[in-house]
Formats: sequence, structure tokens, C-alpha cells
Amino acid sequence: MAAAALGYPLAMTENTGNAQHDVVDLLMQQHDRVRQLFAAVESTSGDARKDSFEELRALLAVHETAEEMVVHPSVKNQGGAGEGVVESRLQEEHDAKEVLSDLDGMDVNDANFTEKFATLKQMVTDHAESEEREEFPLVRQINDADQLAKMARAVQSAEKIAPTHPHPGVESQGANMAAGPIAGLIDRTRDAVKSALS
Ligand SMILES: [Fe+2]
Ligand SMILES: [Fe+2]
Repeated sequence: MAAAALGYPLAMTENTGNAQHDVVDLLMQQHDRVRQLFAAVESTSGDARKDSFEELRALLAVHETAEEMVVHPSVKNQGGAGEGVVESRLQEEHDAKEVLSDLDGMDVNDANFTEKFATLKQMVTDHAESEEREEFPLVRQINDADQLAKMARAVQSAEKIAPTHPHPGVESQGANMAAGPIAGLIDRTRDAVKSALS
């Protein structure tokens, strides 16, 4: 199901003040929300915990897809140190999606969930810090203000369409995506990004 159909997380990404004028501001705001949601899942139980986890899962799924379509290519295309930075981020995203995928559908009040969730939190927190420290400064260096704004719009467009469940493997361009609704959503997301960036 697409984010728009869930009614989340678009309210947040569409009403973020000037964040929509700069892709790095927008993504960092989402990183903050991710950190809040990790804390919310840890500090609640029952339905509240389930709700927070579902919000987190959807946000992580669309956020990583948007980064993979809009941000990483911009850095990678510049070559040099950026290529290695993007390679590391893609690997981290793949690994985190595997864990998120395992958690998706588990009982949030089960001890196994709690243990695996702690692993996910560490992976995602480290990944977000690495993006903020190594990749986002390059994004700002490579792109002027107009391009940063265009990229913010592309991220927002992608997040309206992208799948809200994790699909490990989608991040590698050569991955064999089975034909079906998910492949269709990914194609539509890519089209929306292309049109926002043109
Ligand atoms: Fe990421
Ligand atoms: Fe990120």
C-alpha cells in the first residue's frame, strides 16, 4: 500500500516549513522523526507500540527508497570519494531492510521482537549518522540551492508513491524485481522522481 493511501507520512513531509526548500533539511527532519519513533516503540506496549512501529516502518521504507532514487545517485554520479560513501550507505540500507522485513508482521509485544528491534535501532541510528556526517555535506557541496529544492520535491513525490513495507534488494538497480504490484509501485516512484528532477 502506498504512503498516500495510509495517510502517512505525508502530513509531516508536506508541512515542514522551509524543509521542502532543501533536501538535506527535509531528510534530517525525517531522521529526527525516526529517532523519536524508535523511542516511542521502546517506551510503549500493546496497540500504542504497534501504531508507533507501523509509522516507523512506513517512514523508513519510503525514506530509504527516496534516498536511493534521489540522493545517492547525485553523490555517486560525481565520482571520487562519493562513490565509496554511497556504496557503504546502500549496503547499510539493504542490511537494515532485511531486519525491518523480519520485524514486519511480528508481534510487537513478543520478546523476540524487542531483541531484533534493538538491533534495527542500532543499525538505523548508525546509518543515519553516517549519512549526516559523510554524505549530506557532499549533497550540499555538489548541488546549488535550486537543485536542493528540486531534490526535496523529488523526495516528497517519491514518498507519496513508494511502498510502505521494506523490500530488500530494490536498492540495487540490477535486482531482479518480480513483476507485480510492488514492481509497478517502484516504477511509478521512479517516474515521479524523474519528472520532479527534470
Ligand atoms: Fe538512508
Ligand atoms: Fe536517511
